Amino acid sequence: MEGYIDIHNHIIPKVDDGAHSINQALRMLEIAFSEGIRTVIATPHISYRRGEDRRSKLMGAFEELRIKAEEQFPELKLYMGSEIFYSQDTVYGLQKNEIPTLGNTSYVLVEFQPSCEYRYLKSSIQNLIIGGYKPVIAHIERYYVLRKDLKLVDELILMGAYIQSNASSIRGEDGRELQRFVKKLLKRKLLHFVATDSHGDKIRPPRIRECIDTAKKKYGDEYAADIFIHNGRKLLKDQYI
Ligand SMILES: [Fe+2]
Repeated sequence: MEGYIDIHNHIIPKVDDGAHSINQALRMLEIAFSEGIRTVIATPHISYRRGEDRRSKLMGAFEELRIKAEEQFPELKLYMGSEIFYSQDTVYGLQKNEIPTLGNTSYVLVEFQPSCEYRYLKSSIQNLIIGGYKPVIAHIERYYVLRKDLKLVDELILMGAYIQSNASSIRGEDGRELQRFVKKLLKRKLLHFVATDSHGDKIRPPRIRECIDTAKKKYGDEYAADIFIHNGRKLLKDQYI
């Protein structure tokens, strides 16, 4: 199994709380490459408000990194994306093309307040779907309401949402409770993506291989290949998973 796809990370330098410099971003890519990752969708944080144009600044920084990365890691593919903090302006911003989707597809990575209510989560996901987007909920393990009731994750998937969790949560770095919850999701095959959500080369680096080994051993080769490779490929082709 090779060619992992990382759909969530903060690798673009100096645009959010991720990489501080181009050199740090390149060191992150070096780690990602050594872990077997061959496709990276960069997802800087976006809290969009109507009339705000952050896209051009983000695209400039992304292009600069992409050119350097291509020289150093010709086998690694870099795509643009974003991690959207959902608000009532999100669908408007997407439709105005002011918020980057994942790899220029209809897939969007969205996050919410960890303490948000289920009905807010549900109506936001509905709004994105009605708007024509395929929402991927970032680090699903962070939402209190979902940790309390796994059935709600099922319901979100039935509505058309896709589910992402962080590699660090599987490793237990975000606490036992989150780890237990992610393992339950894996056991029931409710996860579509595991991503690094990496923010640096030392703190929260883009490590993934250990999780893949765990997933293969406990949940089977086929499902592991889906969540680390195949679903990402479908996403980039804008196909349904
Ligand atoms: Fe993130």
